[in-house]
Amino acid sequence: KRNTSGFSHSKIILTGEHAVVYGNPAIALPFPLKVEAIIEEITSDIIVESTFYTGPLEQIPTKLKGISACIQQVLSDLNRPCDKLKITIHSQIPIGKGLGSSAAIAVAIVRGLFSFFETKLDDETLAAFVHTAEVYAHGNPSGIDMATAMSDTPIWFQNGDIVRLEVTSPLHFVIADSGRIGNTQKTVSRVRALYDKDEVLKENSLRRMKEIAFAAKSAMAKGDILELGKLLNKNHSELIRIGVSDDGLNQLVHTAKKAGALGAKLTGGGDGGCMLALTDSKEKAEEISSALASAGAHQTWCFTIES
Ligand code: MEV
Repeated sequence: KRNTSGFSHSKIILTGEHAVVYGNPAIALPFPLKVEAIIEEITSDIIVESTFYTGPLEQIPTKLKGISACIQQVLSDLNRPCDKLKITIHSQIPIGKGLGSSAAIAVAIVRGLFSFFETKLDDETLAAFVHTAEVYAHGNPSGIDMATAMSDTPIWFQNGDIVRLEVTSPLHFVIADSGRIGNTQKTVSRVRALYDKDEVLKENSLRRMKEIAFAAKSAMAKGDILELGKLLNKNHSELIRIGVSDDGLNQLVHTAKKAGALGAKLTGGGDGGCMLALTDSKEKAEEISSALASAGAHQTWCFTIES
């Protein structure tokens, strides 16, 4: 029996979430929690097996409709609309925590299907299929989750344009899950309502976040992690101002800084989900990680982006 796999990984937004929806630049990093989608031939139906849903593709719950729309579109484009397949999804990425699980799952599935049918897949085609899934999952996504799920390096993302970023000195991160599910669609609409009500606030907020993104890019290029840390703190303040942080995330950010982080902020949509902290060594990252766990973080991860 033939079977093949497609892979992807989660993402972390270093700077510029929310503002990126308005065409501002943002920096995102691939984060090594993996997704594997295994495609196998079976005798009837298209079956999905995963921790979040197991059953026929046709009966997939509404909130996962993006996945089924994406699979059906791929099969029809590959002229395989009647094939019988089992799609097994193994994902290490917690759902609804701002780590880009929906985009990563879609990327892994599309890669898996193309590999199963031995058809070459270019980035543009992959992006178009994954976008279909993301529109269902998030309404009007900027595309940064998908771009990062497809990239092996940090990226600079603006209006769909992607530039690979070089890292000149290693960046040590701690990611902590607040334990609460965030709803990106909800926070994105809340920011829109706030911006619609106050044009001056919108302009100032987007201008400051743009300056932070450009300064962060140059700090990364220079290997100036002290400066990068300060910029992350500034970015967190901007996110508080637009109302997407909450007490739990602020508390974790405070804990990380007290434990010696050079900078810390929420990452992703906010209202729960995850925060990140930057530090200058693996040892320090472990200490911050323990402090965050003691402060109530549901789960923590340390990871390094090497130069
Ligand atoms: C979600 O990972 C990032 C947001 O900026 C939404 C988006 O870019 O689509 C909050």
